[in-house]
Amino acid sequence: MNSKLVQILVDYVETAHFRSLKGVEEALAVNPGRFEQIAEMFLKWAVRARGEKWIPIMVDAFVSFSTDVNIAQVRYEADGHYPHKTLADCYEELYARKDSMSNYLWGVYLTNFLWAHHMELCLFFEDRFLTRLEDHARIVEIAPGHGGWGIWAISRLNDARLEGYDISSSSIKIARQLADSAGVKERARYIEKNALELPETADGSADACI
Ligand SMILES: C[S@@+](CC[C@H](N)C(=O)[O-])C[C@H]1O[C@@H](n2cnc3c(N)ncnc32)[C@H](O)[C@@H]1O
Repeated sequence: MNSKLVQILVDYVETAHFRSLKGVEEALAVNPGRFEQIAEMFLKWAVRARGEKWIPIMVDAFVSFSTDVNIAQVRYEADGHYPHKTLADCYEELYARKDSMSNYLWGVYLTNFLWAHHMELCLFFEDRFLTRLEDHARIVEIAPGHGGWGIWAISRLNDARLEGYDISSSSIKIARQLADSAGVKERARYIEKNALELPETADGSADACI
């Protein structure tokens, strides 16, 4: 591994969360060279925002998020429905809760490259989406969460601008921090808002949507 940050992450998974190592190896096997580049990019922004000590904290959050997803899947298959039925339930139980939402978002952030099927989405995003955008694209991001996808887009395009709408204040805070550490904060605007209530805008008011 050439990237020191990726090596720190893999070493920590191996020593502290051995049962998660197989999944990480599957993600790496999707495309080892590009896994390392993409993982380094996401880790670099997080480490600039929070320091190297943040890597194990993010990995713990990732393992806990992945476990929650697996348990939720089993419960769903047994019960035929999710425990939360409305957006208001999700908001009360998660999106508005600062501590658990922060953990959730950092966990999701790492799934971008540590889940093999998300790694495949990264390759699609880079090869099929980013390549079609002009340098001055105006991009809207719905529910950016941690913000990683939109930040990736505008960090590739010199003059692109991003507007992100998320219902959670924790998301807005983390996305702003990561945009700052990626050096694109002047071109990224995050607004705390229910995206289902966005007003209709004129045709052509954006070039792309994430
Ligand atoms: C799993 S995260 C997604 C993060 C990122 N988009 C990704 O794909 O990795 C889900 C995000 O959706 C936001 N969200 C859910 N419903 C929303 C709504 N109606 N309007 C705006 N944001 C919403 C949550 O606050 C959370 O930040």
